[in-house]
Amino acid sequence: MTSNLQIPQEEGIDNTLAVLSEGYQFIPNRLVKFNSNIFTARLLGQQAIIIGGKEAAELFYDEERFQRKGAVPKRVFKSLFGVGGVQGLDDAAHEHRKQLFMSLMTEERIRYLKKCLNHQWEIAAKEWERKRKIELFAAAEEMMCRTACQWAGVPLWAKELKQRTKDLAAMIDAFGAVGPRYWRGKQARSRSEHWIRGLILQVRTGKIFVHEDTAIYQMAWHRDPQGDLLSVKTAAVELINILRPIVAIGRFITFSVLALHQHPETRKQFLEEDADGYAQMFVQEVRRFYPFAPFLGAKVRHDFTWNGYAFKQGTLVILDLYGTNHSPALWEDPNTFYPERFKDWGGSPFDFIPQGGGDYDKGHRCAGEWITIEAMKTSLQFLTTRIEYEVPQQDLNYSMVRMPTIPKSRLMIQNVKVK
Ligand code: HEM
Repeated sequence: MTSNLQIPQEEGIDNTLAVLSEGYQFIPNRLVKFNSNIFTARLLGQQAIIIGGKEAAELFYDEERFQRKGAVPKRVFKSLFGVGGVQGLDDAAHEHRKQLFMSLMTEERIRYLKKCLNHQWEIAAKEWERKRKIELFAAAEEMMCRTACQWAGVPLWAKELKQRTKDLAAMIDAFGAVGPRYWRGKQARSRSEHWIRGLILQVRTGKIFVHEDTAIYQMAWHRDPQGDLLSVKTAAVELINILRPIVAIGRFITFSVLALHQHPETRKQFLEEDADGYAQMFVQEVRRFYPFAPFLGAKVRHDFTWNGYAFKQGTLVILDLYGTNHSPALWEDPNTFYPERFKDWGGSPFDFIPQGGGDYDKGHRCAGEWITIEAMKTSLQFLTTRIEYEVPQQDLNYSMVRMPTIPKSRLMIQNVKVK
């Protein structure tokens, strides 16, 4: 097999600024320009291979060819992920830690999460009835913070709620940022880790009792493959790896409300006989259509050839998530919001990858995908059947450059009435 095909090369000494100025479109724009599913660029001072599409995702999730160690810049660990967490592990250490997360994702635990969330929606809606206008994005993040803490067994005082929500949200908001937004995320991480380290210690010393099924219990008492408890810091990082992404679902809830508003014909489907089936398709389409996680990185373990292109050991490889979910080769009319497309979707783990792809247990695919889907469905059912609200005039556009993005107005709703 030939192994010397030239990978199309993006011009420039370093292309990091272009990533920041084009955001979610940086990779798709280049894949179109080169008419290819692969190109190289210089990012943060190193040569990277950038790939997109289903075949590329299949390659990226081949654990024998790629590792995560050394792939993600340290600044991302200091804000979004936390140092020592599951995202940076490989092989047996990763599989063992991942099992800790997946063990929390039982049907029963997901049912309980839905129950907590429904309860929080009821409380929130009653409060909203008394207000003239509500900023839905902030309200959804706060609701998800309450749900996350209740579900994970994390005690939360009412007076803490605003700051804890703000901090968990700031870590998410920092991921594509430089400057003040990044610094806010970093500070939010140190405050959150301090808070959660204290709670892990209290669980371990018996100062607070928590149920065995909860994430806080499981993180506090998890043992590594050598039989040792995780350090208090690592246990805190992993518990935050549960709380923070549950708060992140607030973004998808906000985009769901935007989709309901911009496609009013979809609303009535939630009242039909197969409302659950429709909600499933709608939620999948929200996760496909609206931008959230843009791309992922991994490092080549040892030299290999793919489609005639040489991948050298140690090279950074970036997989395009947003572009793969909008690839015209995979999705008919990809820039149209059309939930029914999921009726015929084959369920491949490599073409629809808003939360990563591949295998949950062995690979790095998002541990919370089922929770995300169910939390979004619960929220949509509440929004379409339990309350009425109006969406006043506002700027609902969202930037394709800011990562992560959100509608400019952060989605205001008004005149909420519980039915
Ligand atoms: C807004 C919803 C969410 C989005 C967009 C999202 C996105 C992602 C993405 C893109 C990855 C990386 C996959 C990879 O590296 O290959 C990931 C990993 C992960 N997610 Fe999520 N996620 C969400 C919700 C959740 C929830 C609700 C939880 C847990 C309750 C969760 C827990 C995790 C964990 C633990 C990992 C690391 C998995 C590993 O490295 O093995 N996520 N997520």
